[in-house]
Amino acid sequence: MAEGDIIGCTHLAIQTMQQAKKPGVIINLGSASGLYPMYADPIYSASKGGVVMFTRSLALYKRQGIRINVLCPEFVQTDLASKLDPKFIDLVGGFLPVEMVVKGAFELISDETKAGSCLWISKRRGLEYWPTPAEEAKYRVRPLTSRRKSSFMSPLSTQIPQSFEKIVVHTLNHDFRRATSVISAPLRFPLKPDHVLLKVIYAGVNASDVNFSSGRYFSGDKKDIKSRLPFDAGFEVVATCGGKEKAKLLKDLGVDRVIDYKEENIKTVLKAEFPEGVDIVYESVGGEMFDLCLNALAKYGRLVVIGMISQYQGDQGWKPRNYTGLCEKILNKSQTVAGFFLVQYAHLWQQHLDKLVDLYSLGKLKVAVDPKPFLGVNSVADAVDYLHSGKSVGKVVVCIDPSFSQQLAKL
Ligand SMILES: NC(=O)c1ccc[n+]([C@@H]2O[C@H](COP(=O)([O-])OP(=O)(O)OC[C@H]3O[C@@H](n4cnc5c(N)ncnc54)[C@H](OP(=O)(O)O)[C@@H]3O)[C@@H](O)[C@H]2O)c1
Repeated sequence: MAEGDIIGCTHLAIQTMQQAKKPGVIINLGSASGLYPMYADPIYSASKGGVVMFTRSLALYKRQGIRINVLCPEFVQTDLASKLDPKFIDLVGGFLPVEMVVKGAFELISDETKAGSCLWISKRRGLEYWPTPAEEAKYRVRPLTSRRKSSFMSPLSTQIPQSFEKIVVHTLNHDFRRATSVISAPLRFPLKPDHVLLKVIYAGVNASDVNFSSGRYFSGDKKDIKSRLPFDAGFEVVATCGGKEKAKLLKDLGVDRVIDYKEENIKTVLKAEFPEGVDIVYESVGGEMFDLCLNALAKYGRLVVIGMISQYQGDQGWKPRNYTGLCEKILNKSQTVAGFFLVQYAHLWQQHLDKLVDLYSLGKLKVAVDPKPFLGVNSVADAVDYLHSGKSVGKVVVCIDPSFSQQLAKL
């Protein structure tokens, strides 16, 4: 079909769906040469590029339940492709099996999140969406309308999907990307009378996600720890971080003494400015930082361990460390070292969440969300990598449904 016809036919298909009130999926056939230049045939490349951008620009029909996507395969053995120089076909790894194109088409049909999506299919890299969310984030701008106050409007149709996407761990590994894949699972109908179907739009990623994907959190250690976190007012707060941006955020949050470990030596500062030691330490870095915190703990001090992010990565993943002399040190100063694992306090979540929401409403609790956008469930692994890069400032959040990416989440 000529590319001009693709525009006309797509509009015709949209109209037909609208008139029949039967929204569905339209798949245009582009080509990999619409994504990058095919020097041998510039006109072909240009027209396929047009198909790609035309289709991508129709993403917002998703609001009406109509999803228009484009397939961009490299060479399949058709009459047209057989006329090309075989050396050129060999360069890209040979002809694609037609089954791969069919698989791609089914993915674009069955995956409810795909709208205005462009699926590149190549022998070398398999099925890959183009552009990646990171590339998209570079050019995306927020329309002025979505900056208006109280303009929250659902861009979704109220159609109930038949399936949902979920991330499953298929191989235990601390490399979240290698351990997991995104699969589509059917929703179980009918819904039970006392059940509610919720759509997750934003999800936060957590440093410990790599411990779930490596299975470290399921070792069977269910020991209950009865410690309480004394978050109440009246303390002089010292906080550590790596980088100027984070230091500024901590200062703005009201921290009394920020130690940016890229600028100052934590041990030197603590020795000089807190010679009596620190009463309560909330520790999440582990390794050398744990040693340092333990040595800086005051008499009767309490050290709460919530994690050990510095030990999660590396070749072997999370490697437990030996803390030589721990018992002697805490005995010597009658100190307490306690663990705090959120999942073992699930019974207190609701109560505690209410408290946090109240504090937030009163302006006493400030929430920082990292501004880097991550769009779609497939970007969760990128978000996990970013969290572990040390560059994040605030909670790293993934917008699970990209059609909501222009909307601001509200408490
Ligand atoms: N106990 C629980 O139930 C529970 C629940 C959730 C999270 N956690 C723990 O809380 C900690 C923070 O998790 P989060 O999800 O809230 O993430 P987060 O605070 O957003 O973590 C990102 C920050 O960690 C620091 N970091 C990253 N890699 C590091 C490394 N190799 N060495 C030292 N610092 C590094 C970086 O800050 P700087 O470089 O500025 O230090 C980075 O900005 C983790 O240890 C996690 O396991 C515990």
